[in-house]
Amino acid sequence: MNSTVIFAPSQCTRFNCFLKNFFTRCCRNSSARQIAQGRFSRMPLFLLHPTVHHRIQSISAVSSSSDVCFSSLQQSSREEGDLIVLGIETSCDDTAAAVVRSNGEILSHVICSQAELLARYGGVAPKMAEEAHARVIDEVVQQAIEKANLKEKDLSAVAVTIGPGLSLCLRVGVQKARKVAGQFNLPIVGVHHMEAHALVARLTEKDLKFPFLALLISGGHNLLILAHELGHYVQLGTSIDDAIGEAYDKTARWLGLDLRKGGGPALEELATEGDANSIKFSIPMRQHKDCNFSYAGLKTQVRLAIESTKIDMENIPISSTSPEDRKMRADIAASFQRVAVLHLEERCERAIEWALNIEPAIKYLVVSGGVASNRYVRSRLDHIVTKNGLSLICPPPSLCTDNGVMVAWTGIEHFSVGRFDPPPPAHESEDSVLDLRPRWPLGDEYYPGRSEARSLKTARMHPSLTSIIQASKPLTRS
Ligand code: KG4
Ligand code: ZN
Repeated sequence: MNSTVIFAPSQCTRFNCFLKNFFTRCCRNSSARQIAQGRFSRMPLFLLHPTVHHRIQSISAVSSSSDVCFSSLQQSSREEGDLIVLGIETSCDDTAAAVVRSNGEILSHVICSQAELLARYGGVAPKMAEEAHARVIDEVVQQAIEKANLKEKDLSAVAVTIGPGLSLCLRVGVQKARKVAGQFNLPIVGVHHMEAHALVARLTEKDLKFPFLALLISGGHNLLILAHELGHYVQLGTSIDDAIGEAYDKTARWLGLDLRKGGGPALEELATEGDANSIKFSIPMRQHKDCNFSYAGLKTQVRLAIESTKIDMENIPISSTSPEDRKMRADIAASFQRVAVLHLEERCERAIEWALNIEPAIKYLVVSGGVASNRYVRSRLDHIVTKNGLSLICPPPSLCTDNGVMVAWTGIEHFSVGRFDPPPPAHESEDSVLDLRPRWPLGDEYYPGRSEARSLKTARMHPSLTSIIQASKPLTRS
């Protein structure tokens, strides 16, 4: 259909641009027909302006040639460009919420961790994690709003992680986000958890412009991505089995460490007492000249090293061992950490080379995700990055591990370019079908980095964030 969109002139060019994009997109689906037939004018149209907070009250005229005219643009008292977004995160074992302003100010940042549960059961059990989220989600969101000194009606939108993650856990956050958004008539932004880990670096480092390279290292993922622009990512490498965080957590458990503050931090601390060269673990995947990761083999090497000591380390807490035993455990921890991080260093070095071939303008490597809060990881990667002529950007540790700030910020980034869903119904049924994406790639694989093992595991995989966004972009007319 040939559509011309005319709208009431606003003072704000970004708003005009946003409306144009919005309706160009609408005109490709059923709303276009509604516009053309004039039915849209009788529908309660509610659009929130992403930067000025205009509300469009009505469409004054709809002609048969689908020209659309808006009137009654209302501007709220808030300053241009000022958005306030609530972010909710429940994809794994932390229940988190935060309120962030579009100028990067963090108004609140609340996290309720399930580390106690993890320590007791030795890993994330989905059903138990879901119940733990459900117990605290109302309180966490309430605190985030109160600490920000706001009421829900002051928000511009609600952002929530919709994947990847455990679907039972994602559901708790998404249901809560839809409840708040429905009750207060707020738009909603579905966020990709790993994109949020990467983009939070743009909140903390205002100089960070696209394109950039990112290494995302967490409990469930190892990703090397080239970020061309917002919503356009190329995956240079990924984990073909276990992620590095999982290897830290398992090693910490097998060494009998106190897991209440997390396996990774406990292992990092113990490793400072050990000799990193005492055990010669082999570096994974050296024969594969790509940027993929594997930690399953290193985990096996660690298990064998522990078994060879003939000490039941897992069941004898480190707090009750002799100094000799403690030293043995520290040596294993330090040797594991050295090799786990050498694997990261080698892959990053190759990824920098690949990325600079594709995008010579790249200046930064962002390292984020829970494992990026590790000081040894940061200092080793800083060395590699500097040696290769780039600069390292690591968000502060509290923003590397899962948090609501990264979700709110990613919501702000997408909302500002008009990517959001309309407010859900005020009273949505508890069993309505939700858009949850437990297996959701961020970008498509860079061909030379393609992994055979990985490509086979595509069952129930959602199309990548990048492919969805690229497909929804308005077609440029020749
Ligand atoms: O990003 P994140 O908080 O949650 C996921 O998305 O998985 O990452 C959690 C992972 C856990 O495996 C945790 O042990 C690890 O990050 N981690 C660390 C450190 N802090 C958290 N690993 C090593 N050293 C740390 N200091
Ligand atoms: Zn994470």
